[in-house]
Amino acid sequence: QAIRLADYQPSAFSISSVTLDFDLYDDRTFVKSTLNLTREGVKDVPLVLDGQELKLLSVSVDGRELNSDEYLLDTDSLTIGSVPDHFELQILTEIHPETNTSLEGLYRSRTMFCTQCEAEGFRKITYYLDRPDVMSVFTVSITADSERYPVLLSNGNRIEAAPLDNGRHRVVWHDPHKKPAYLFALVAGDLAHIEDRFTTASGDAVTLRIFVEPKDLNKCDFAMDALKRSMRWDEEVYGREYDLELFNIVAVDDFNMGAMENKSLNIFNTSAVLASPDVTTDQGYQRVEAIVAHEYFHNWSGNRVTCRDWFQLSLKEGFTVFRDSQFSSDMGSAAVKRIEDVTLLRTAQFAEDAGPMSHPVRPDSYIEISNFYTLTVYEKGAEVVRMLHTLLGPELFRKGSDLYFDRHDGQAVTCDDFVAAMEAVSGIDLTQFKRWYSQSGTPVVRATGSYDAEKKRYSLTLSQSCPPTPGQSVKQPFDIPVLMGLVGSRGNLSFALVDTASEQRSDTEALLRLTQAEQTFEFDDVEEQPVPALFRGFSAPVRIQADWSIDDLQRLITCEEDGFLRWDALQTLALLAVDEAISGREEAALSALIASIQAMLEQDGDRAVLAMSLILPSENYIAEVHSQSHGADPIAIHTARESVKASLATALIDRFEVLANSAIEGAYAPEGAAIAERALRLTALDYLRLVQPEKAADIAVSLLEKSDNLTDRLGALRTLGAVGGKRAEVAFDAFYRRFADEPLVVNQWFQIQAMNPYGDALARVTRLLAHPAYDNLNPNKIRSVVGAFCSANPVQFHAASGQGYALLADVVIDLNKKNPQIAARLLAPLTKWRNYPKYAQRMKVELERIAAQENLSKDVFEVVSKSLAS
Ligand code: ARG
Ligand code: ZN
Repeated sequence: QAIRLADYQPSAFSISSVTLDFDLYDDRTFVKSTLNLTREGVKDVPLVLDGQELKLLSVSVDGRELNSDEYLLDTDSLTIGSVPDHFELQILTEIHPETNTSLEGLYRSRTMFCTQCEAEGFRKITYYLDRPDVMSVFTVSITADSERYPVLLSNGNRIEAAPLDNGRHRVVWHDPHKKPAYLFALVAGDLAHIEDRFTTASGDAVTLRIFVEPKDLNKCDFAMDALKRSMRWDEEVYGREYDLELFNIVAVDDFNMGAMENKSLNIFNTSAVLASPDVTTDQGYQRVEAIVAHEYFHNWSGNRVTCRDWFQLSLKEGFTVFRDSQFSSDMGSAAVKRIEDVTLLRTAQFAEDAGPMSHPVRPDSYIEISNFYTLTVYEKGAEVVRMLHTLLGPELFRKGSDLYFDRHDGQAVTCDDFVAAMEAVSGIDLTQFKRWYSQSGTPVVRATGSYDAEKKRYSLTLSQSCPPTPGQSVKQPFDIPVLMGLVGSRGNLSFALVDTASEQRSDTEALLRLTQAEQTFEFDDVEEQPVPALFRGFSAPVRIQADWSIDDLQRLITCEEDGFLRWDALQTLALLAVDEAISGREEAALSALIASIQAMLEQDGDRAVLAMSLILPSENYIAEVHSQSHGADPIAIHTARESVKASLATALIDRFEVLANSAIEGAYAPEGAAIAERALRLTALDYLRLVQPEKAADIAVSLLEKSDNLTDRLGALRTLGAVGGKRAEVAFDAFYRRFADEPLVVNQWFQIQAMNPYGDALARVTRLLAHPAYDNLNPNKIRSVVGAFCSANPVQFHAASGQGYALLADVVIDLNKKNPQIAARLLAPLTKWRNYPKYAQRMKVELERIAAQENLSKDVFEVVSKSLAS
């Protein structure tokens, strides 16, 4: 049942061109496909086309319709036994987008038709060689009712448009660029659009359009601006220009993921493209900007150069996430962006890497590829590209990416091809480095040091290991770039690195190459006993084990030059404080934490970094760390973290009260300084409410009344939700009535209720699931309620009764057939049962109940069976 990388074979046939004719009706759609096929491999092999849930109406080869005994049909394929070496194949199928709830293939979202083909959705549209290494030139004609579907879109250029009889019309699109089927897209609807223009560096004019339902036309400007900035940035930083006269974005409300990079017709989840101060938070704006950029960047890293097979998914996703993270750093605060990315990686990707679904950045087998659109492929994949960037430096890296695009333009290639280009331009041997692609699990790096005051020499010993993961019991050492410095009592120390395989980058910085299980690095001319500052900017995705004392951490917090490491040391101190609270030990870390935060509040530092520094490690992150040793207890973690927060609030109450009451000048704009001030104010408000709930509730109520933006309003609601009582109830009701017409706001209103750790969240979630605005087929709604509760409210999800687990299992069982991708994704929190010794049995019971269902989708089957396997 599993598909293996080792079994890869090139396609036996190529398709030089394809013509698709869509005839859209309310109760069925006809698809006529005409393929020009050429045999590439051995004679006599049959033609096997992928196809699922299709009604085959006719097949003809070179104009002759085949009899039913001339082909073989099963649930996943159409096989034609004997075909010429070169021929035209015509296939007519009937499909039912109107009942397609999987949101894969052609489906309906509210009033429109749209598609999602990556990874293997095209086979739900017509029989085809649905694999990324079969690339073809597409011509697409769409016929539909003129009044209800005035807008008919596909990839490339519109070459024809004509009214027909019976109130229908027909539009024809032609895409001159060869592409795999997963990049095909079609949209039909009564859509409004905004339009803009971009001139490429070479002087070519490009028309840019964003299509939405008419009610959303006022929420497109930010995305359009982000698109233009992305296009410019990709020219300036990567030398990549856009390659057609038209670039379209369409917003759809029912979408399994964030967005999709279909050639010249990107399709977006409304939540990833629409933006206005009333419906979008500061973080929401940044998400829109990042996703618009990500999909646009795919035009080169993904479309012009695509993947040979789906095991290579990180070739396009890891690289493109890296590119969009560089873009976001350039657009806003680089320090904040890095802290956010590393937090996500450590909280969620490390957990994935340590769990039953652990897989390499380039997996070597899968049952259902949709299950591999993961944090490992995306985020760890981006870290792997980032390490290459660190190893080569920006100039060589750019040469490498130029060579990669140049060598492989129009091809479907592998992760090895990408690394080969980097090797070719740098002369660096990346053989061992490539283990990052093939070995799963998070490496652990242990650090110990010793200082010889007489010789002024510091020795740093680093050792690495990687725990076993499913299918990989033994690991070879990784090639780990350690960007580092040494910190003295008054700041960074200069040194002379002795090792030659590594590289001294400045007086106070070195890039160590840790390639063996254990290595000792010597530093000369070190004036005093240092604390090493390791993995600046988080230069490698590893866990670091170093027994820093509280004094060492404080030195890093006050003296280290790298902002990321200063923040990181503060987080470590906070973790220690939470552990103290759990074990009832003396409160040394807590005192140090309070002193450090007090000092930061009094200094005149970066406000955005300050806002991030005030936020303690999340309960999920603490649970992930605890899972690595004694196992996690979410309820104990919650209680301990709350007590640390309360101590901070009590100690620093005056500062928090001032911050919570501060005024922010000017009308809303999602821009750096104001974003930081809002974050600070709301974080302070959250501390204040722990000590002075009534005062905090007053501030929240007035924010709700006076503020001009969703960030403040949701922050205020969150505070009221935490304080609870009648005022909260009134505020939540009033908020709903005010924004009931904005689905994106309702989603966030759902989400903060589902995430509220206080009161009876299970009862709340049960009520939300019955709310008239809830829709059990809309992924955004499901994620806002079920996803938020199960993965972002651990203390309530794990509450002693086990009813949270049962609720999740019920939802998964219901969605298993309706939308398998979403069902499998929701399951993630249950699969971590081994991390929670006291809760594991109850969690496992629910997994077993799911496993016992008949007709499990491949998606759910793979996740459940792997997470129960011993
Ligand atoms: N390629 C898209 C992106 O990352 C995501 C497509 C997801 N599709 C899926 N079936 N999981 O931009
Ligand atoms: Zn992507």
